[in-house]
Amino acid sequence: MVSLRSVASAIVALPFAAAVTITVSSDGGNATSRHQYGFLHEDISNSGDGGLYAELIRNRAFQSSYSFPSTLEGWYSLNGAALSLQNLSTPLSDALKTSLNVASSGSDGILGFYNDGYWGMDVKQKKYTGSFWVKGSYQGIFNASLMSNITGEVFGSVEVESKSSPDEWVEHPFELTPSANAPNSNNSFSITFDSAGLEDGSLDFNLISLFPPTYKDRPNGVRVDLAEVLEAFHPTYFRIPGGNMLEGLTNSSYWDWKNSIGPLKDRPGYAGVWNYQQSNGLGLMEYLELSEDMGLELIVGVWAGLALNGGVTPQDELQPFIDDALDQIEFIRGAADSTWGSLRAKYGHPEPFTLKYVEVGNEDWLAGAPEGWETYKSYRFPMFLEAINAAYPDIQVISSGSVLDGYDIPAPGNGDYHIYGTPDQMVDQFDLFDNVEIPHLIGEAAAVHPNGGTAWDGGLVEYPWWGGAVGEAASLIGYERNSDRILGALYPPLQRPWSKAS
Ligand SMILES: *[C@@H]1O[C@H](CO)[C@@H](O)[C@H](O)[C@H]1NC(C)=O
Ligand SMILES: *[C@@H]1O[C@H](CO)[C@@H](O)[C@H](O)[C@H]1NC(C)=O
Ligand SMILES: *[C@@H]1O[C@H](CO)[C@@H](O)[C@H](O)[C@H]1NC(C)=O
Ligand SMILES: *[C@@H]1O[C@H](CO)[C@@H](O)[C@H](O)[C@H]1NC(C)=O
Ligand SMILES: *[C@@H]1O[C@H](CO)[C@@H](O)[C@H](O)[C@H]1NC(C)=O
Ligand SMILES: *[C@@H]1O[C@H](CO)[C@@H](O)[C@H](O)[C@H]1NC(C)=O
Repeated sequence: MVSLRSVASAIVALPFAAAVTITVSSDGGNATSRHQYGFLHEDISNSGDGGLYAELIRNRAFQSSYSFPSTLEGWYSLNGAALSLQNLSTPLSDALKTSLNVASSGSDGILGFYNDGYWGMDVKQKKYTGSFWVKGSYQGIFNASLMSNITGEVFGSVEVESKSSPDEWVEHPFELTPSANAPNSNNSFSITFDSAGLEDGSLDFNLISLFPPTYKDRPNGVRVDLAEVLEAFHPTYFRIPGGNMLEGLTNSSYWDWKNSIGPLKDRPGYAGVWNYQQSNGLGLMEYLELSEDMGLELIVGVWAGLALNGGVTPQDELQPFIDDALDQIEFIRGAADSTWGSLRAKYGHPEPFTLKYVEVGNEDWLAGAPEGWETYKSYRFPMFLEAINAAYPDIQVISSGSVLDGYDIPAPGNGDYHIYGTPDQMVDQFDLFDNVEIPHLIGEAAAVHPNGGTAWDGGLVEYPWWGGAVGEAASLIGYERNSDRILGALYPPLQRPWSKAS
């Protein structure tokens, strides 16, 4: 739904326990009435950047979009250095045009800047891997340090010899292992240098990145703690890259997979749909590797000519987006010597990934209705379906709407059904698909409203709760009963934005 953040969804696997004994104690527990019903807090939790993606530096490359101009958010000066954003005539890359100038304010000595991450940084005695790009003339060393943002105490620091040049951008990679664990998460990462080694009084920096160890040690990977929680659910499917995030705010800022692959310096970022600029750091390759590392079956959403503002791609302009989708599929599962498969090989994965399910768009019945939905049924889905199945007859193409949304899905298409309901509505799911013949994915299903309250701007349950779990269980039994036609069921609260605790 519109209010859902979409990193990804993971299916709830259904282990067939023969019997389960539940003992409920009559005292000593916490009353369910303690549960709070929250409002949407889309501004307080991040899903990819600042969430699953393990990057510690917030606003690492000063990326911008029409809705989020470049800022110095997250960055602070040390020892009086003057920080400013600049668009140099020689940018780091076409994708990253804005950089940070750090100037001596006249006084001699050590100067620098620091970043306090996504509301702090977890600093432990483990190996951090980082890199920053510099342009300008500096002879000397940089200190890259993890320190307390409150007391300034340094937990770990490494000297990085300057290779900087006034004519070009030079990357400075480093590794850093703190000698102590920080007592809390109010920490920051700093870079300092000696003004005596400067030729022109300032240096330019960009793409300042720092990673802790990642899940399965993937470079540019995801957080170990969150990934392990996800893994403990024993998921089997992975729907990427999500729903609304795929659609984007407009048709000039959707999740364009081609901007999400390759070196980080070539990823421009875009206006995210959940109130913050997206870096494109957690890109297609990262999702594919995560699915491989967790043994997940992929369901890949392709952009289908509709953005959340209702902008619809006219029929005679749709072909380039169909071509993009075909390229994307080739990138994922094409041979290592195919055009796009060879790029995947170049980025470290010659073996094709397995891909059997492709979904066309997301909830096309919702944004821009009725035109969005009418165009989906009349030409957008049929054109994608035909083109994908002509090239890949074995791929199951999934419509982003269901027959229950009033779509007579053309063969051999499948449907996708989403439900965010009350416990009672989830129970009603039990026999919903008994007479539906076309196969469906249950792409997003969860009890999120208490019985009696269904407003999206209030009445959302912040945490899973007993009533919701019982309703969800009834719905899952119903989907399972129809497993000859239900491809799978995915649990979206793993991606939901409104939990204050996240
Ligand atoms: C009840 O909730 C409180 C506050 O979250 C917690 O400290 C306590 O351990 C809980 N009690 C039980 C029995 O779960
Ligand atoms: C850099 O360029 C962008 C895009 O043209 C513009 O919005 C921004 O204001 C510029 N920033 C600076 C510091 O000049
Ligand atoms: C520590 O950081 C949190 C935000 O992450 C902030 O609310 C809190 O005030 C900070 N504490 C101090 C002592 O700065
Ligand atoms: C870090 O310090 C800066 C400057 O005092 C402050 O604005 C910021 O809130 C702090 N961040 C955290 C996470 O403590
Ligand atoms: C780097 O850190 C060392 C040790 O604290 C200090 O002596 C030196 O002045 C620092 N240099 C810079 C450029 O920050
Ligand atoms: C983009 O959306 C606008 C409406 O916002 C529409 O007029 C235009 O045709 C769309 N273009 C493409 C290529 O989708």
